[in-house]
Amino acid sequence: MKFFVDTADTQAISELNDLGMVDGVTTNPSLILKSGRDILEVTKEICAIVQGPVSAEVVALEAEAMIAEGRKLAEIAQNITVKLPLTWDGLKACKVLSGEGKMVNVTLCFSANQALLAAKAGATFISPFIGRLDDINLDGMELIQDIRTIYDNFGFETQILAASIRSVNHVQDAALIGADVITAPPEVIKKLATHPLTDKGLEQFMADWAKTGQKII
Ligand code: E4P
Repeated sequence: MKFFVDTADTQAISELNDLGMVDGVTTNPSLILKSGRDILEVTKEICAIVQGPVSAEVVALEAEAMIAEGRKLAEIAQNITVKLPLTWDGLKACKVLSGEGKMVNVTLCFSANQALLAAKAGATFISPFIGRLDDINLDGMELIQDIRTIYDNFGFETQILAASIRSVNHVQDAALIGADVITAPPEVIKKLATHPLTDKGLEQFMADWAKTGQKII
């Protein structure tokens, strides 16, 4: 399973990238706002750090304007993935931009039928939002499972990019279901390494080691 990091914070991206934990990056208008940076400038910087797909989102709402913005974003670097909302206009833009050979990430997906349409429109990635479904008491993971089943039933090549990941359990569940990619904030990716029994075990080993009076170096 590929790991994308869901942030426009270049320092956090670099830190995880140095560890080989970053297969791509996703951004959105809210993350650009949080970064306080110019979208073109920060996206270019991210594309220089990470070799994999970097999603940059259009903000137009009509297909023609989305296509124009998508083409401009795609000029930033070869690894740009144009991010389009799952609306009828977004699907039209997806069809055109993917037909031009550009990578497209269709975002704000909340139903299996929406995911089916994105695949038919040629999306490279579909982004179902797990956390936002959980927020309204629906089961985000059930959506990932449904999309996996539908895509496998018909051999769609669109990759399932499990998004709006809020917890380490979301990552594990998405991996078990077979999502192709997860995108998560840097804090969640770092938390995957932690376990209370690891901390407890290490504490015990350190205490016992001190009692031996030995040194390795
Ligand atoms: C995905 O591409 C989105 O940027 C992101 O995962 C949204 O997450 P949120 O619901 O926590 O804002």
